[in-house]
Amino acid sequence: MDENAIVTKDLTKRFKDLVAVDHVNINVKKGEIFGLLGPNGAGKTTMIRMLCTLTYPTEGTATVGGYDIVKEDGKVRELIGLVSEKMIMYDRLTAYENLKLFGKLYNIPKATLDERINHLLKLVHMEKWTKSQIGTFSTGMKQRINVIRALLNVPEILYLDEPTLGLDPQSTSEIREFIKKLNEENDTTIILTTHQMLEADMLCDRVGIIDKGKIVALDTPANLKRMVAGGNVTSVDVNVTNLTPEMTAALKDMRNSISVVQEGESHLLIRASGDDAFDDIVDTIRQRNGKIASIKSLEPSLEDVFLHITGKEMRAEVTKKVKTYDGGHGPGSRPARRGR
Ligand SMILES: Nc1ncnc2c1ncn2[C@@H]1O[C@H](COP(=O)(O)OP(=O)(O)OP(=O)(O)O)[C@@H](O)[C@H]1O
Ligand SMILES: [Mg+2]
Repeated sequence: MDENAIVTKDLTKRFKDLVAVDHVNINVKKGEIFGLLGPNGAGKTTMIRMLCTLTYPTEGTATVGGYDIVKEDGKVRELIGLVSEKMIMYDRLTAYENLKLFGKLYNIPKATLDERINHLLKLVHMEKWTKSQIGTFSTGMKQRINVIRALLNVPEILYLDEPTLGLDPQSTSEIREFIKKLNEENDTTIILTTHQMLEADMLCDRVGIIDKGKIVALDTPANLKRMVAGGNVTSVDVNVTNLTPEMTAALKDMRNSISVVQEGESHLLIRASGDDAFDDIVDTIRQRNGKIASIKSLEPSLEDVFLHITGKEMRAEVTKKVKTYDGGHGPGSRPARRGR
């Protein structure tokens, strides 16, 4: 058996003169959470749309579950679920009715469908809201329904296009927990697009950084960050409850000290080089009877990685793109033809 869920070969999509996805070669392993991280317009959604068979490549190929996305698109659709950027749900229908409607499009037998809907609603803690109209829900509640909608057909491969965009912190963390659980318990392969560094870092086994349609780096979050850290540098944030100017001066004088910056009354941000840097910092403070309330390593963020590779900042998304509407099927609602 192929251990890859997805393999792309020079996958390319052009819109007239614009190359939205530019000769992308990636392998997504079975059971992996793979992140596509990039700024607005990088080509993330276009990649997902090709891998979902919603649009064809202009050049190159890809297989999903071993099936060709163009020649065997029907087979591909049987394996996948998609949570697209835009929610496609009917405000005037209840949570249950919405799910049932989409389940019917998948030709899932009624009894199985009922069982699955109830099970999934419980998993996202929405069982109390089964009979309420979607139009009365908060964005976070709607997104939970939107996510489980993509799971009605029990997909092997799940695409999540910016699943937490525009959600409140509580819903964001619940959706992230759910994604992790789904991956751990069902071994679902997940491809997630995001421009939130934290999200990619928290959830993904590997991250492909995409900029202007090109994959500019691909590795585990830890390795990507290592790339930026460069050399053997330790960065820590230490909280010394009885911090004195003498302690700060001693830390600055350490032979391997690079920088010491004080924040507030008791916090120091310290960078030092060498294998013993961490011990040296702790020893220097303790020798002066400093009481260390906490000490934590400050890793470079994926944001630093993006800056390092592309030479530009990746600004956070501010526009809310999440929306629902009543009526009409967008491309995201395209059903797979099958019976289960
Ligand atoms: N149907 C289309 N016709 C023409 N241009 C398009 C079309 N779809 C996408 N594009 C362009 O392709 C580029 C990549 O768009 P895409 O939506 O894939 O980016 P993205 O990484 O998903 O961005 P975002 O973070 O804003 O969702 C953009 O420049 C976009 O304007
Ligand atoms: Mg997008």
